[in-house]
Amino acid sequence: MKVGRKKVDGGAAPRTIAASSIAALLVAALAGGGTGCSGRTFTKSMTLGGKKVSARRLNRGEHLYVTYCSACHGIKGDGKGPAAIGLRPPPRNFTQGQFKFAAVASGQLPNDEDFLRIIQKGLHGSAMLPWNDVPEREIMDIVQYIKTLSPKWADKSPGEPIVPGPDPWAERKGEAITRGMKVYHGMAQCLSCHPAYETKETINAASLELAKREATLRPDAYYAEMKDSDYGYKLMPPDFTRDHVRAGETLEDIYRTIASGIGGTAMPTWKGALPDDDIWAMAYYTRSLIEIKGSPAADARREKLVASLAVASHGNTKTN
Ligand code: HEC
Ligand code: HEC
Repeated sequence: MKVGRKKVDGGAAPRTIAASSIAALLVAALAGGGTGCSGRTFTKSMTLGGKKVSARRLNRGEHLYVTYCSACHGIKGDGKGPAAIGLRPPPRNFTQGQFKFAAVASGQLPNDEDFLRIIQKGLHGSAMLPWNDVPEREIMDIVQYIKTLSPKWADKSPGEPIVPGPDPWAERKGEAITRGMKVYHGMAQCLSCHPAYETKETINAASLELAKREATLRPDAYYAEMKDSDYGYKLMPPDFTRDHVRAGETLEDIYRTIASGIGGTAMPTWKGALPDDDIWAMAYYTRSLIEIKGSPAADARREKLVASLAVASHGNTKTN
């Protein structure tokens, strides 16, 4: 079996756990009587997220949820299943009714299409694997059941879907990346949480051009900074040149992540706060960083930038 052990570096918390140990935990959980039922039987239809769902469907969803999902997400949906121990990030606690990767403004409830996409594609680099062998209908039954686990779904409807318009930079990739680099460093303050990827001079020039002010860099500007979240644990924003992004790596995926933000985390919603062209440009730029992920060139570049900052902050200490 393939063991996915990630190189653990300086500040970043290890996010990857060996696939084999997850499998072992799952087997242990199943053998230990982790499956069965949650003890809930639905006798009436319910209105969930503004839609009426039949009792029959909820009972089907409950059964499938217990079978497939409860080992990690817990029989009660609280994220404390027997296979959840040691998982980083931990499985979602569905009783909170809070989600990260939906294409809605941060903090709003996901639409069914969001659940379907996330469950079918999985969350890359986490224990949440792609469930692409479970029929769509069954996944949708599970999704309806998940909504019974938090009271939020009884009185709230899902957020307005954030749909990407046409890519304004098609055929102009180079221009898009340059613009995205400037917006990332000079305007959108992505580098207040994620690493910076340019020299202080370049960042300052971008900031003066776009925001009409001098840039301020964190002391560890070339590393990500750990952030609080509403999930009860801290999160390390990814360094795109070495960590996974979980919700997908295509331009559209990255656009969706940036435009929607990440619910319950420090990462805000950018749709409406920045022109769409600039959100797309940052998607191109982020994608260009993901493309060099793990390469010696990316590591060399980071080392050079770290050294340049050390030199700048220590005035004329010797260099060679
Ligand atoms: C092996 C453990 C494991 C199993 C089994 C599992 N998940 Fe997950 N799931 C996770 C982890 C870990 C996360 C959190 C990832 C993160 O925070 O980035 C997660 C997150 C989620 C999310 C939240 C997505 C968001 O945008 O916040 C949903 C929805 C979800 N899982 C549904 C399911 C469903 C449905 C099943 C069963 C078909 C399932 N999971 C089975 C580990 C698991
Ligand atoms: C206030 C802090 C903060 C700011 C500002 C911020 N992010 Fe994030 N970002 C985060 C955190 C925290 C995560 C990780 C969430 C997690 O692990 O679940 C993240 C994750 C991401 C991801 C990966 C999502 C995935 O699929 O795993 C992308 C892409 C991203 N940010 C892009 C950006 C861009 C581009 C900007 C600037 C427009 C930005 N972020 C600004 C905190 C921030």
